[in-house]
Amino acid sequence: MLKAFVPKEVEPGETRLAATPETVTRLMKAGLGLCVEAGAGQFAGISDEDFIQAGATVVASAAEGFAGAQLVMKLHPPTPDEIQRLEPGTVLVSHLFPHTNLARVESLRQGKVSTLAMELIPRITRAQKMDALSSQANIAGYKAVIMAADHLPKLFPMLMTAAGTIHPAHVVVLGAGVAGLQAIATAKRLGAVVEVSDVRPAVKEQVESLGGKFIEVPTDEAAEDEGGYAKEQSEEFLQRQRALVRERIIEADVVISTAAIPGKKAPMLVPEDMVRDMRAGSVIVDLAVETGGNCELSEVGKVVQKHGVTIVGMTNVPGLVAVHATEMYARNVFNLLNDMLKDGELAIDREDAVIQGALVTHEGEVLHASTREAMQAQSGA
Ligand code: NAI
Repeated sequence: MLKAFVPKEVEPGETRLAATPETVTRLMKAGLGLCVEAGAGQFAGISDEDFIQAGATVVASAAEGFAGAQLVMKLHPPTPDEIQRLEPGTVLVSHLFPHTNLARVESLRQGKVSTLAMELIPRITRAQKMDALSSQANIAGYKAVIMAADHLPKLFPMLMTAAGTIHPAHVVVLGAGVAGLQAIATAKRLGAVVEVSDVRPAVKEQVESLGGKFIEVPTDEAAEDEGGYAKEQSEEFLQRQRALVRERIIEADVVISTAAIPGKKAPMLVPEDMVRDMRAGSVIVDLAVETGGNCELSEVGKVVQKHGVTIVGMTNVPGLVAVHATEMYARNVFNLLNDMLKDGELAIDREDAVIQGALVTHEGEVLHASTREAMQAQSGA
């Protein structure tokens, strides 16, 4: 029986993990033997007893779990110590971010580990159920609005009371990808008026269907690449966008910024002078803070007050909603594995589009083309 192991995440502050009792039961039904490190679910509302009830074995240490494991399910890229513990031929399912972890990719290659990177799963219809970027961004978009509402010294909805009328909060959402769309929906549910900016005109319809107002920036530039992602825009476009967005932001109570360009630094959309002109007491939640920030003044992992504005730069926002973030991530991992499982064995079908996108190392090779090129460039340097 194929032995699968779910270690406790060692990343400081991480609350999530790669399995739940539900996915454990389903994987066991598919023929796997499941082993979970003690305490792995403690911050996600899952006790060791819950895992045991689901049929898993709970081991006291990571060393015990890694020994003999043929499949390891994780959330964060493996640490050098974890990589040392992986045995040749093991399948590792985890985030990897190979371009920022080239040395680890090399160790995984040398260790003959087959690594499937969750963030590289292609965004094709069949793989939506495995799409961890979407499941976690969805949660981040929701939580961003809740954090903003918490810091805002105002109510979100319009209230007509005997003590007078309260006007609804005015929210501006920058970037209408998965997180941005959920932020729009959440802010609308709380009763806010929502305006939205994105470089991809295609999202206008989605924004409007959620009750948001789209701020249009006239342009001839192509906004999307073939994958449907935003392309990096010219400085001239960004300046015009900033000018239009500025008018809306200085009137706003809340800005939720989610603008991102895959593999690049986040576009800077809210410079200091814009913050200075915002209303006192207003709130910015910068979900792009970990990739450079959409606001010039946001600080990684902190809530700061600048020019009377509260700027929330919390990292790992999905981790603040650990129960549901884990539930969704664990299902993403399960769905990937379930498609690979044949008679209790994991089949790595290199013709499969999902495997082709996500398989970074396999049988002593680096298969992910741009990672291989980055490694060659580095070793040639
Ligand atoms: P993301 O996290 O890469 O970017 C967030 C948003 O920021 C995007 O909408 C992007 O256009 C926007 N943005 C970039 N530069 C900006 C700027 N200067 N100003 C304002 N906004 C800016 O995006 P995410 O959430 O990962 O989704 C990207 C695309 O992938 C979307 O079209 C989404 O619908 C699509 N998608 C497709 C899936 C599928 O299975 N078919 C699943 C999930 C997403």
